[in-house]
Amino acid sequence: MTAPPGGDRRPLGVVGPAPDWGGPLEVGGVRLATPVMAASGTFGFGTEVPLCDRRALGGMVCKGIFLEPRGGAPPPRIVETPSGMLNAIGLQGPGVEAVIRDYAPLWATWPFPVLVNLNGETVEEYAELAARLDGVPGVSGLEVNISCPNVHRGGMLFGHDPEPAAAVTAAVRARTRLPVWVKLTPATGDIAAVARACEEAGADALCAVNAFVGMALDVRTGQPRLGFRTGGLSGPAIRPLAVYLAHRVAQAVRIPVIGIGGITCAEDAMEFLLAGCRAVQVGTATFVDPNAIGKVVAGLRRRFSEGARPAAEAPTGGGRRRRPVRAIAGGRVVE
Ligand SMILES: Cc1cc2nc3c(=O)[nH]c(=O)nc-3n(C[C@H](O)[C@H](O)[C@H](O)COP(=O)(O)O)c2cc1C
Repeated sequence: MTAPPGGDRRPLGVVGPAPDWGGPLEVGGVRLATPVMAASGTFGFGTEVPLCDRRALGGMVCKGIFLEPRGGAPPPRIVETPSGMLNAIGLQGPGVEAVIRDYAPLWATWPFPVLVNLNGETVEEYAELAARLDGVPGVSGLEVNISCPNVHRGGMLFGHDPEPAAAVTAAVRARTRLPVWVKLTPATGDIAAVARACEEAGADALCAVNAFVGMALDVRTGQPRLGFRTGGLSGPAIRPLAVYLAHRVAQAVRIPVIGIGGITCAEDAMEFLLAGCRAVQVGTATFVDPNAIGKVVAGLRRRFSEGARPAAEAPTGGGRRRRPVRAIAGGRVVE
């Protein structure tokens, strides 16, 4: 089918977030202070939080952990790229017991929720991690990482296809009462099918997306510039790809979608909200400016106070599932 001149101007067919700026918003079972969160792996375990305006943080996802401590990938682990970076940290982390002992008590005193990014090499490992974190004060939810590009076993291998993605989600769901968010990989032929499978397996929300697999070579040595050979590409370079994928996910499911990928300012965040996301996460931008999240939130507040709203649009039938049409009236969402 040929697109009409000027492109297809039909409504996007998804409902925006309409965050209530008067107070916190509920997204996938988690009460966010604002719709802008810190993305996993870019804020450690939160000890960097004093460097930024913590009042702006909607919430934080901690660095990905496994059951046991892990050493991660060999250096070099980071390479700068045009408008972004490649990383291959390899999920270095202290393991779940250290998180429960050293970090969760700290998180319990903070005014924003912290979700733990879960990783495993088997479905059982994810499930065991979920069980260990269930009921731990300071842990407000789980972000199930089936999308890490930097490990040889597990990670994004679970996120390629609907069946393993659903198996991990269902196993985690069965072992915890905490909200379960699932973080999707762009490395799949049909992200909508993976998203639906996770929703049907009990996910409360979906995060779209993790980094894209990339590679950089040193032309002098002929060797890969990362110790792991390949890495995850993040930052503004991936934003249009991420907005598209987040939009596809938002069209495919009823549960909320959290948009991730290359957000540096309020306008970037608005793109994801317009694409149908209920909240966003910011990662790489905080390496450039530790206060990037504060600036995104301040910019969104300004835009919203000036009357900007992510458009509430009627479903077009393009998405498999339809949602109630919402509209904004006097700053309130009406259905
Ligand atoms: C250094 C670094 C470490 C990361 N570690 C994790 C991780 O442990 N778990 C995870 O799910 N995503 C991890 N990510 C991916 C980010 O959370 C995010 O999905 C991705 O970087 C895209 O967002 P951005 O362009 O805003 O950075 C990491 C990203 C970077 C740059």
